[in-house]
Amino acid sequence: MAPQQWESKIHFGPASGDNGPFPHLAEDVRRGLTRIPKELPPKYFYDARGSALFEQICELPEYYLTRTERALLTQIAGEVVASCRPVTLVEFGSGSCRKTRILLDAMARRGLLDCYVPIDLNEDVLRQTAQALSEDYPGLRVQGVIGDFEQPVEILPTGGPRLVTFLGSTIGNLTHDGAIGFLRNVARLLAPEDRFLVGTDLVKDVRVLERAYNDAAGVTAAFNRNILSVINKHLDGRFEPNRFEHLAFYNKEDSRIEMHLVARQSHQVSIDAIDLTVEFARGESIRTEISCKYTSAMVEAMLAEAGLRLLRWDTDKDRLFALSLSTLLH
Ligand code: AVJ
Repeated sequence: MAPQQWESKIHFGPASGDNGPFPHLAEDVRRGLTRIPKELPPKYFYDARGSALFEQICELPEYYLTRTERALLTQIAGEVVASCRPVTLVEFGSGSCRKTRILLDAMARRGLLDCYVPIDLNEDVLRQTAQALSEDYPGLRVQGVIGDFEQPVEILPTGGPRLVTFLGSTIGNLTHDGAIGFLRNVARLLAPEDRFLVGTDLVKDVRVLERAYNDAAGVTAAFNRNILSVINKHLDGRFEPNRFEHLAFYNKEDSRIEMHLVARQSHQVSIDAIDLTVEFARGESIRTEISCKYTSAMVEAMLAEAGLRLLRWDTDKDRLFALSLSTLLH
């Protein structure tokens, strides 16, 4: 393919639909709010407002994840790039991709950088990313893919070696089976010379974990309630977000933070676009997110189960967060 065809071009992957920003919202909301216990998929936090609230969370003193991962990445980017010599960076859940530049810079410094493939559900964010990065990295081919990371993505051949990343402990939003499914998709995508870098939050003192999801400024509570505003906006829902309390706690048995929205009183909510009326008892909750916390053994076992072999494991001095580099097992 001619270079100009690639330049900051957004490729619409097969996982994308053309029915708005959240193609499966209606069916996911119906399924999640008619089952017991009620739940909603966390990907629906991230409309423009939710994404802005998440950016704010990343700056909170209690939310150690983002800054710890960034420091780690800054520390190891040079070595990772030197050992793998990637010419393409593929990033799942790229979002605002402020951590991406650390890797792109390390690749550019060694004269390797050729192509960047951000994969995200949010087309607006992808377009902004493509635009900003192709301005800042002259000659970089940006090949965005609109897609849900739980669905297998087709990535056009871009030449290798490639470094594939899944940062931010976003993998923690998936159940064990979901995570294995995702990792198997990654393994299927990898060539023997490619590498996969995943960021995972680690098991630690429960108080530290719970503080990170119950910040004093209440930003996480606003982020949690925003999922109801997304339903109101896109499905003509009649939720009153303030009738729900933010609840986040560590579930030790399942090694995960759970976020819930708990009805303060019994009431009904109609969601007109899907002809649904939902009943809430007082104290009934909607689980809006799981955020799994791992040990090194858990990460290594998950990678192995998906056909990946751990090459390096890096953590900060307080063992808050880890980056794992892996490759195909066979
Ligand atoms: C983006 C999924 C990593 O689970 O910590 C932040 C989202 N939720 N505060 C996380 C989130 C509440 C975050 N991830």
